[in-house]
Amino acid sequence: MKIIVTGGAGFIGGNFVHYMVNQYPEDMIINLDLLTYAGNLETLKPVENAPNYKFVKGDIADREFIFKLFEEEKPDVVINFAAESHVDRSITDPESFVRTNVMGTTTLLDACRKYGIKRYHQVSTDEVYGDLPLDRPDLFFTEETPLHTSSPYSSSKASADLFVLAYHRTYGLPVTVSRCSNNYGPYHFPEKLIPLIISRALNDEELPVYGKGDNVRDWLYVTDHCKAIDLVVRKGRVGEVYNIGGHNERTNLEVVKTILKALGKPESLIKFVTDRPGHDRRYAIDPTKMETELGWKPEYTFDTGIVKTIEWYLNNKEWWEHIISGEYTKYFENMYGERL
Ligand code: NAD
Ligand code: TYD
Repeated sequence: MKIIVTGGAGFIGGNFVHYMVNQYPEDMIINLDLLTYAGNLETLKPVENAPNYKFVKGDIADREFIFKLFEEEKPDVVINFAAESHVDRSITDPESFVRTNVMGTTTLLDACRKYGIKRYHQVSTDEVYGDLPLDRPDLFFTEETPLHTSSPYSSSKASADLFVLAYHRTYGLPVTVSRCSNNYGPYHFPEKLIPLIISRALNDEELPVYGKGDNVRDWLYVTDHCKAIDLVVRKGRVGEVYNIGGHNERTNLEVVKTILKALGKPESLIKFVTDRPGHDRRYAIDPTKMETELGWKPEYTFDTGIVKTIEWYLNNKEWWEHIISGEYTKYFENMYGERL
C-alpha cells in the first residue's frame, strides 16, 4: 500500500511515521508536511534513509499542489495528522486554524474523491466534545457525545470532522475518524504542557501553571495512539468514529509535581499564572468501542509512560535545546511575558 501521512514532521505524525516505516516494510510511507514552526525534520532522522519512506514538503491547503501530488502518487490511504494544534496559539490567531485544519482537510477530501482512495483517516481530538465538569468523575466522552467546542482550535477540528463525515454520507468516501485524548512522549514540541515543564525544570526556570492547576487531562502515551490509529485504518468500519484514551486522568498540578519529583527539582519552581481564556476543565475518554470492537489496549499507564518520556528528554537534549533557542524564545516572551 502507498500511504500518505500528512503532518509527519510533527509530534504524533512523526511517531506514527517511525512506527509505520518499521512495522510495514512492504508499504510505502509518504510524509507530506509544510514544516511550519511545529514541523522538524530532525524527528525523521531515524527513518530518513529507509527504502519505504519519502518526504514531500507542501501545504495540505494548497489545492493545485495537492491534486498534482495525488495525480503522481495515486495513494491508497491518506492519514491526516497535519494541523495547527496548540490551543493558546488558536486564541491569538484563529484564522490559520481555519485554513489548515478546515480548508486543508476539505482539500485532501476533494483530492481523495477525484483520484479514488481505499481509506481516508482523520486524526481528531477529544476536544471536539468540549469539557466535563470537575465534580462529575462519572461522566466520560463517548462517540455519541454531542460536539460542543470551546476554543478556536477545537472548533476548527470539529468542523473538519463534520466535513469528513459529510463526504462519507454525501459522496460515499471511505472515511474513518479517531478522537484521542492528550498525548505525550518523544518529539513533543515544548509549547505543550509536559515537554514545556520538563525542559524548563531542567533549566531551573519558573513553571507556568494556568489558574489553580486543577484542570484535568486524560494522558495517553503517543505510541499507544499510533497503534490505535493503525488498527482503525486497517480494521475500523467505514463512516465510524473511534474514541481513543486509556483512563489516565491527572490534574495539571499532579502532572507538574510528578515531573518535578522525577527530576529531583523543587516545587518552588511552580508559578500559578493567569488562566487561559475559556479553559476546558476536564477531558475524559470512554474507550469501550476501541477495546471491544478492535481489541485495542494501551501498553502504558501515565506512571510508566511519563518515566519513559522524561528519560527521552534527558537523552535527547539536542533535539529540544535546538528548538527553544530559536524563534521559540519570541513565542515564549509573547505568550508568557506578562504572566511570569
Ligand atoms: P504538531 O503541531 O506537533 O504537528 C503538526 C504538523 O503538521 C507539523 O509537522 C506541521 O509542520 C504540520 N502542518 C501544519 N500545517 C500544515 C499544512 N498546512 N500542510 C502540511 N503540514 C502542516 O501536532 P500534533 O500534536 O502532532 O498533532 C497531530 C494531530 O493530532 C493534529 O491533527 C491534532 O489535532 C491531533 N491530536 C493531537 C493531540 C495531542 O495531544 N497533541 C491529541 C489528540 C489529537
Ligand atoms: P496543552 O499541553 O496546551 O494541551 P491542551 O490545552 O490541548 O489540553 O495543555 C494541557 C493543560 O495544561 C491545559 O489544561 C492547559 C495547561 N497548561 C498550563 O497550565 N501551563 C502551560 O504553560 C501550558 C502550555 C498548558
